[in-house]
Amino acid sequence: MTHRFDGKIALITGGTSGIGLATADRLLAEGAHVILTGRDKPRLDAAVERLAGGDRVLPVRGDTTSLRDLDALTSEIGVRYGRLDVVFANAGTALFQPFGAVTEADFDHVMATNVKGVFFTLQKTLPLLSDRAAIVINASWALHRGLAGADLYAASKAAVHNLARTLAAELGPRGIRVNSVSPGYIETPMFHEHIPAQAHPAVVAAVPSARLGTAGDVADAVAFLASDDASYVNGQDLIVDGGLVAAAR
Ligand SMILES: NC(=O)c1ccc[n+]([C@@H]2O[C@H](COP(=O)([O-])OP(=O)(O)OC[C@H]3O[C@@H](n4cnc5c(N)ncnc54)[C@H](OP(=O)(O)O)[C@@H]3O)[C@@H](O)[C@H]2O)c1
Repeated sequence: MTHRFDGKIALITGGTSGIGLATADRLLAEGAHVILTGRDKPRLDAAVERLAGGDRVLPVRGDTTSLRDLDALTSEIGVRYGRLDVVFANAGTALFQPFGAVTEADFDHVMATNVKGVFFTLQKTLPLLSDRAAIVINASWALHRGLAGADLYAASKAAVHNLARTLAAELGPRGIRVNSVSPGYIETPMFHEHIPAQAHPAVVAAVPSARLGTAGDVADAVAFLASDDASYVNGQDLIVDGGLVAAAR
């Protein structure tokens, strides 16, 4: 095991399950101190217990759509660590509906979580970022090709991928890199919530690697982007999808 994050301070939003939790596990194994967020205290407590990272894990309850919660989060990080070296803006939600069925409430919820939450997580943490910090935003393969029923979700993910590119240009002079990761079909609670078991064989059939992705597959890619191994990778989107997008071209 490499130790690319020894002594580094990493924030992971939405770290209570799936990709966020797997990334916390990976960064901890490589020496990081990890701040984990989520909206639900019992889920946060369960994640902390599962990670078994001792005093290298700081759970902070909070909703990324609330600027008040983000202020409380950054103030707690400031007091405890004084800086951040890695931010993984991962907290997100999904909604798959035919275009005509999307309501204003759906729109507000998805955009608040996937766009506003990411935008202000990054804005509020900016003063804490060290000069060689790395930001990774969790986007989605859905921004790369048309997926019927993903209108709202794909639009939200395209927005944050573009934010990564723009911030790369803006923060580059400080040595801060900003990239996004675009997971394919990854077997997490979110995947199971939206894709019924009977649809799994068809999903796998569309993936050249002939399997669903794991949260660990994405965590490996996030760790790469957040590490010095990617020191000249900036403003990019790394698709982690077993070839799903490539095969559709
Ligand atoms: N799984 C896939 O196939 C897939 C594919 C492409 C992209 N993604 C992206 O990957 C990211 C993680 O999803 P996942 O698949 O790992 O799903 P997951 O297991 O359901 O995890 C979602 C995480 O986001 C947190 N969260 C949601 N809304 C939040 C909010 N407003 N404030 C704070 N935390 C919030 C949840 O925490 P609490 O519920 O405990 O608050 C949970 O920790 C999302 O951005 C998703 O769009 C997933």
